[in-house]
Amino acid sequence: MDAAPSPIPARAVVFDAYGTLFDVAAAAARLRGELGEACDPLAALWRDKQLQYTWLRAAQGRHADFRTVTGEALDFCLAALDLERPGLRDRLMALYDALAPYPETAEILDRLAASGLRLAILSNGTPAMLAAAVEAAGLGEMFEAVISVEEVGVYKPAPAVYRRAVDRLGIAPGEIAFVSGNAWDIHAASAFGFRTLWCNRGGGPDDRLPGAPDRTMRSLRELPDLVVPT
Ligand code: LAC
Repeated sequence: MDAAPSPIPARAVVFDAYGTLFDVAAAAARLRGELGEACDPLAALWRDKQLQYTWLRAAQGRHADFRTVTGEALDFCLAALDLERPGLRDRLMALYDALAPYPETAEILDRLAASGLRLAILSNGTPAMLAAAVEAAGLGEMFEAVISVEEVGVYKPAPAVYRRAVDRLGIAPGEIAFVSGNAWDIHAASAFGFRTLWCNRGGGPDDRLPGAPDRTMRSLRELPDLVVPT
């Protein structure tokens, strides 16, 4: 039997939000009855396009905030999947503002905070989107800092975004354990100098990019055994 991986010593755990704490497929899933077979393709394409638009805008130096990009991605998807129906866009966007957390999120954050680790979010989301999601999930008291890329004006994986967490928390990159469900985000955070834990919920292959996950888990439930406060 393989030995259990050793825990990473850290002073703070910094979380990605969408796809890590909050379930990005939850908005479409709430309308599964209405969307039928289009539900899962819509959720997947919406997420893909949303991320593509962040990267493309960053490469062009034409930033627009994450709510705008999320809406533009949804418009593409509704057209591509022939789902342009009255009111559907507005209902999906409203559901995106209060995305459900993954089931284990609150309990795991509680355990990490109780162990003495500082907790923060570092996300592409706007301050308003993040505040709404954190509030709707009842996680308002958990985070010392909820850091939006709007403070920097460019999207992940620009190094300036990861630098912002270092500046806000006032600790060294190597003292931060960064948790994300997005492999590309993990690679960029690792290349920047964070310790990294990839929450690979789908069990998919790793990205081929600079940097690497220090630990990989299938859900946040494994996290308390993989990070220890220094
Ligand atoms: C975020 C996206 C990458 O929350 O999921 O930053």
